[in-house]
Amino acid sequence: VNHLLGIKYLTREDIQLIFETADHFKEVINRPIKKVPSLRDITIANLFFENSTRTRLSFELAEKRLSADVINFSAGSSSVKKGETLIDTVNNILSMKVDMVVMRHPNPGAGVFLSKNVNASIVNAGDGAHEHPTQALLDCYSIKERLGKVEGIKVVIVGDILHSRVALSNIFALQKLGAKVKVCGPKTLLPKYIESLGVEVEPNLRKALEWCDVANMLRVQNERMEISYFPTTREYTQQFGVNKTLLDSLKKEIVIMHPGPINRGVEITSDVADSKHAIILDQVQNGVAIRMAVLYLLASKIKHDED
Ligand code: CP
Repeated sequence: VNHLLGIKYLTREDIQLIFETADHFKEVINRPIKKVPSLRDITIANLFFENSTRTRLSFELAEKRLSADVINFSAGSSSVKKGETLIDTVNNILSMKVDMVVMRHPNPGAGVFLSKNVNASIVNAGDGAHEHPTQALLDCYSIKERLGKVEGIKVVIVGDILHSRVALSNIFALQKLGAKVKVCGPKTLLPKYIESLGVEVEPNLRKALEWCDVANMLRVQNERMEISYFPTTREYTQQFGVNKTLLDSLKKEIVIMHPGPINRGVEITSDVADSKHAIILDQVQNGVAIRMAVLYLLASKIKHDED
C-alpha cells in the first residue's frame, strides 16, 4: 500500500525499516550539503486544513532535502472557502502531475477517505483526534536515541488523551515496539475505550512518574473542547502539571517529551521544558529524518509500481 494513514496499519518490521532509513537520513542532514537527489522526479503537495508549525515545516524540509518538487496549500487561503470539496480540491491538484499528498485535516479518517477516492499516495499528517503517525514514529525514534531501545521501556502519556491523535498513534507504535504504556489524566479527558487498547490508567501523576522511564506530556487541546470539561486549567496544572520540584523529588531521572506546541505553565513549567530531562527539540529535529524516511520509502514503492 502506497500510503501512511496510521500506525495501526504498520508492522513492527515496517517501523524498524523506517528507523533504519531515518538513521541514514539523519547522517545526511548533518553533512555540510544536506540534500540528496532521491526524489527529484517526485512532486508532493502539502495540504493543511488545520494549523501546524512543526509538521508542516518538517515535511517541507524533508521533501526539499530529498530534492522533490513541493507545493503548499493552506485551506484558509484556498477555494475550499468557496465551497470546493476535498475530493475536487485534491483531484485538481493531482491533475497538475502531483504524485504524493501530505494532509492534515480536522476530521478523523480524512486520510483513509482520501486514499479511497483519489489516485495518489497519501501521508496522514494528523487527522482530528485519530492518528498522527509521523509524530509517533519520531517520538519512538527519539526514545530509542536517548535510551538505546524502546522494547521494555515504561512510557506514561499524560494529559488530554481524549482529543489526542498523538496519544493514539504513540500507544500503537510503543506497543508494537514492545514498550509498556500507561496513561494518566483527568477522567473527563480519557476516552472510554482506553483500557480496551491494553493500556493501564494511573490517575495519580506522582505514581505514574515514579513508575515510568519516559513521560510524554500532552497539550490540553482547548480548541477541541466542545463543552467545559472539568478540571479548570488551574486544577489541571495542580493535579497533572509537571514542575521542577516534582521532577527533582522522583527517585530516578526520567525523560520528558512533548509533541508541541507547549502550553508553558500548564502541562509543564518552563524550567522542565528547558531542562536536560527534556528531549522536546530532539523530537522536532528527528521529525525531519523520520519524514524523509517515510517519503523515501513510499516513493520507492511508487517507482517500483511504475516499472
Ligand atoms: N506536534 C505537532 O504536530 O505540531 P504542529 O501542530 O505544530 O505540527
